[in-house]
Amino acid sequence: MGRDISGAGVCFVVPTYNEAPNIVPLLRRLTGLYPDPDTAFLVVDDESPDGTGRLVRELAATDGRVHLLEGPRRGLGQAYVRGMAYALETLGADTVVQMDADFSHDPADARRLLTRLADGADVAIGSRYVVGGSLDPRWRIGRRLLSRWGNRFARYIADIRGVRDCTSGFKAIRAEALGAARVEDIRVRGHTFQIMLLHRLIHAGARVVEEPIHFRDRERGRTKLGAGSILEFFYTIWWLRLTSHRVLFRYGLTGLVGALVNLGSFQTLLELGMHKFLASPIAIELSIVSNFLMHNYWTFAGRVMIGRKRVRGLKYNAVSLATLALSYATFVGLSVPFPHTSPALLQACAIVPAVALNYLTNSYWTFRDTAPK
Ligand code: GDD
Ligand code: MN
Repeated sequence: MGRDISGAGVCFVVPTYNEAPNIVPLLRRLTGLYPDPDTAFLVVDDESPDGTGRLVRELAATDGRVHLLEGPRRGLGQAYVRGMAYALETLGADTVVQMDADFSHDPADARRLLTRLADGADVAIGSRYVVGGSLDPRWRIGRRLLSRWGNRFARYIADIRGVRDCTSGFKAIRAEALGAARVEDIRVRGHTFQIMLLHRLIHAGARVVEEPIHFRDRERGRTKLGAGSILEFFYTIWWLRLTSHRVLFRYGLTGLVGALVNLGSFQTLLELGMHKFLASPIAIELSIVSNFLMHNYWTFAGRVMIGRKRVRGLKYNAVSLATLALSYATFVGLSVPFPHTSPALLQACAIVPAVALNYLTNSYWTFRDTAPK
């Protein structure tokens, strides 16, 4: 898009709670790496008792690009809600980079995330779970499994398809995408913010890409991930599951329209004098086309699925062919023992097994393709 990626209009948003040993080295590193005068560095501190805020205020006094936003402690999630709103509205950022203060995220990696945005993405995730990404080798097997399976579980339950690292706290995001996702409405307090934000971005139609990073353990200070955060994680992902039924609703309505197209065109063709054995497959095919168009431009329009589009397209076609074959076979199979039954009724009956086949193969095969391995 011909955008400057040197950092103009970029705002780094860094939440802190008791990061006194880390915050000054981090800000020095960031300001050195991203010298553009239009780049801002916003620290959102929750009145850390260890004086993190004071250190940032001192630095901000000598460097106009450094900003401090302070408030009472309401958790990582709410710190981000405030910080991102401030970055967009007060600092006028056109891109936000979110990252941790403890050097788990390498400041130099933000450059690659920004490059991905310049290449057309709306969101670039610093990802531990794509090829080339890695975790600190000091992580024990138990912690690795917990992180990996927690991630997989969240992705599956919360319906975040195609993203390998959906709990990452390192992302570059375009301002428009943040606006469309209505970040200000996010209520979660803890680390679950990452999943919530990603879910909203994806459902608002953002193009999401992942860039491999190495996640390093913090050297100084302590993690704030606590039991409350873990509890919140569980009920949030289930909440997301329950509230993302819009897709299910659209899927159902699409199916209903498909059935009407099928029966309506079948009846029309019969009235035009066409033989029922020819009218049947044509009507079925018409409904498959209308289903495809509606799924494509409506049901899944807000969903971003990364990679393997062609494979999914082929599978969708194969499923449609199988649906057509089963529906037609049912129609013919019923017409033989019931030659005098109304053809429209038989055509309607023939939809039933086809719908079951279509739904099962699409949800457990076609769309399963992008689900995590
Ligand atoms: N303002 C504010 N308020 N900042 C907070 C709070 C809070 O209540 N809690 C944590 N932070 C800040 C920390 O100071 C740090 O800069 C950053 O948020 C991440 O907190 P950590 O406590 O270091 O998190 P972590 O290392 O356990 O978790 C990381 O990995 C997770 C995925 O595995 C983070 O990147 C998470 O965002 C991520 O989900
Ligand atoms: Mn950390």
